[in-house]
Order: sequence, then C-alpha cells, then structure tokens
Amino acid sequence: MNSLCLFLLSCHVSSAVKHSLKYFITASSGISDFPEFVGAAVVDGVLVGYCDSSIRRAEPKLEWMKELIKKDPQHLEWYTQKCSGNQQVFRANINSLKKRLNQTGGVHIFQRMNGCEWDDETDTITGFNQYGYDGEDFIALDLQTLTWIAPKPQAVVTKLQWDTEKPRLEHNKNYYINRCPDWLKKYVKYGRSFLQRTVLPSVSLLQRTPSSLVSCHATGFYPERAMMFWRRDEEEIHEGVEHGEILPNHDGSFQMSVELNVSSIKPDDWRRYDCVFQLSDVKEDIITKLDKTAIRTNWVSPSVFPVGPVVGGVGGVLLLLAVFGFFIWRRNSNEFQLANTGEQ
Ligand SMILES: *[C@@H]1O[C@H](CO)[C@@H](O)[C@H](O)[C@H]1NC(C)=O
Ligand SMILES: *[C@@H]1O[C@H](CO)[C@@H](O)[C@H](O)[C@H]1NC(C)=O
Repeated sequence: MNSLCLFLLSCHVSSAVKHSLKYFITASSGISDFPEFVGAAVVDGVLVGYCDSSIRRAEPKLEWMKELIKKDPQHLEWYTQKCSGNQQVFRANINSLKKRLNQTGGVHIFQRMNGCEWDDETDTITGFNQYGYDGEDFIALDLQTLTWIAPKPQAVVTKLQWDTEKPRLEHNKNYYINRCPDWLKKYVKYGRSFLQRTVLPSVSLLQRTPSSLVSCHATGFYPERAMMFWRRDEEEIHEGVEHGEILPNHDGSFQMSVELNVSSIKPDDWRRYDCVFQLSDVKEDIITKLDKTAIRTNWVSPSVFPVGPVVGGVGGVLLLLAVFGFFIWRRNSNEFQLANTGEQ
C-alpha cells in the first residue's frame, strides 16, 4: 500500500494501520432482567456481531458483515454454537469462583476479552486472551510461554489448574496463529470501505445543571482514533478538565466527551476558552467556543421531577451494559501489555 503511495500524490495517509479482532464475553449472576451471557465481536473497535442468552443465536451487525454471512452461512453457525457452548462454560466458571471466594449472593461478573491484532504493514500478529472478575483483571494467557498469569492471589488456584490443561493451551496457540488472523483479514477485506472511511462528528456543549461541568460532546466520528481537549487562549489546559472514554455508537461510529469545570471562570473570560476535536489522519479540527448561549441542557428543576435523573441514570447504565458489556472492564484490561495468545 505504501509503495503505491509514493507514486500517487493524492494518496491518503491513513492506509497503514493496526487492525484488531476482539471478542468480549460478559457472564453475570444476580442481575435480574439482564442476560446472564453476552458475547460481542468487534473489528477495529466496531461491533460487528452479537449474541446473548435471551436471543440464543449470533447476529451480524452492519451491512458488510451481513453480506459476508449471506455468502458463508456456516460462519454465523460457528458463532451461534460458540455462543451457546461458552454460555455453559462461563456459567460453570462463575459458579465455581463464587463458591471458592465464599460469595453466596450479590452481583458478580466474569468477563473475557480475547482476539488478535494485525499490523497490515509489517504483517505482525499479536494475540491476547484475558479474563476479568468483578471489574478487575483476573487471569491472562502468556502466549510466549503458554502459561497463565495470575495477578491476584484469588486466581492462583485457577492458574495452576489451567496450566495443566495442555490440549487447551495448544488449541489456544493454534487459534491465535491461524484462525484469528485469517478471520480478521477476511473481515478487513469485506469491511474495507466502511473501516477506512473518516467521518467528522457533530460537537455540542452540554450541561446537566447550572452548577455541573460543561461537557463538550462529539458524536458520530470514525475511526476511533481521536482526541479532544479544552484550551484557554489557544493553549491546552488540564486543570478542571475530565476526559471521558471513547464509546461506540450503535451505527459503528463513536462518541466521546471532555468536561470542563467552569465554576471558577469569570463570565468575561468564557470567550477565551474553546474545545478542540481532532480526528487522527484528518487535518481539520473542530473548534467549539465556550459560549453560554450555545450550551444545551435538559435540566429540569428538581422540585418538578425528583426521581427523573436517578431513573434515567440507572436505565442508561443497564442499557450500556446490555449492548457493550465489555467496556466495564476496559480501563483495567489495558494494564496487561502481554504479547499472548488465547482461545476461541
Ligand atoms: C471461605 O470459607 C472457608 C470456611 O469458612 C474458609 O476456610 C476460607 O478461607 C474462605 N475462603 C475465602 C477465600 O475467604
Ligand atoms: C468545580 O471546582 C470547584 C472548585 O475547585 C469545586 O468546588 C467543585 O466541586 C467542582 N465542580 C464539579 C462539578 O466537580
């Protein structure tokens, strides 16, 4: 791709990237009205497949994945079988963990993130397979040594047991060297025009109540590689600024926000502040001036709707959990920088 770029002056610079195929499984117990098993397949940060214990089958998301499935129905069948098989395994895992940790009730969540990354320039493949329990890293596979790593004492028993399961370890290794990258390359080929597009977001200023932080919110952008920050007099500032995570939208685009505490900013100084959104590989920034008249709010006096925000908040969290259960544990999972393989 790059040698071609040398000859084409108008070539887009975003051609060489790391692609990823990640599977997220979230098994839970003790949450009513929520599927005890949720599986998601994510390519380059975009949800392309989904299954859960209520729908009982795998479903492709996005047009290009549906197109691929139409040509290869067995591909979907494989996912549906994995989905129901893993459901049994994860239920057994969560039950035995609860037992071992003397947890009789309450909400518990057992998660797995596995998959592979492929650098389309160097053709390097890295695999990963790691588990989390109740929001913290639990156990991860080291693909170099084919042994499990237990960062917490609670996981040592599991590590010792899983280390003895040699056929499973070999199966894992084979999966990360062969099947995972093959499928990732197939997906990237099918989704090329979707995965290589760039879309700028719409950006707005939001404030929940007059004393809340002002949130600069960008939604609808693609790809996931983006930055957002607040400036004063065109210099980036950090004080009173809180960065949110990049979150997926249901249509394969992303959203993020960065909040600014405006309580100590004098009204006359507001015009010195602005919020900048930058999409990787796109030169143009979106700059939004801090301006009282531009702030949108859905704030209602608490005397009118005392429970409104609370109910809304819980609903929002559960919905997010339902569709993107994998993000709960995302922040922690980054702490593992292992070049390892895993299992399907
Ligand atoms: C669970 O309870 C048993 C018996 O009360 C105790 O021996 C054991 O140490 C407990 N385990 C944990 C992880 O707390
Ligand atoms: C904003 O900053 C002020 C002063 O530092 C602090 O008292 C206030 O709690 C902050 N507001 C929010 C919403 O964090």
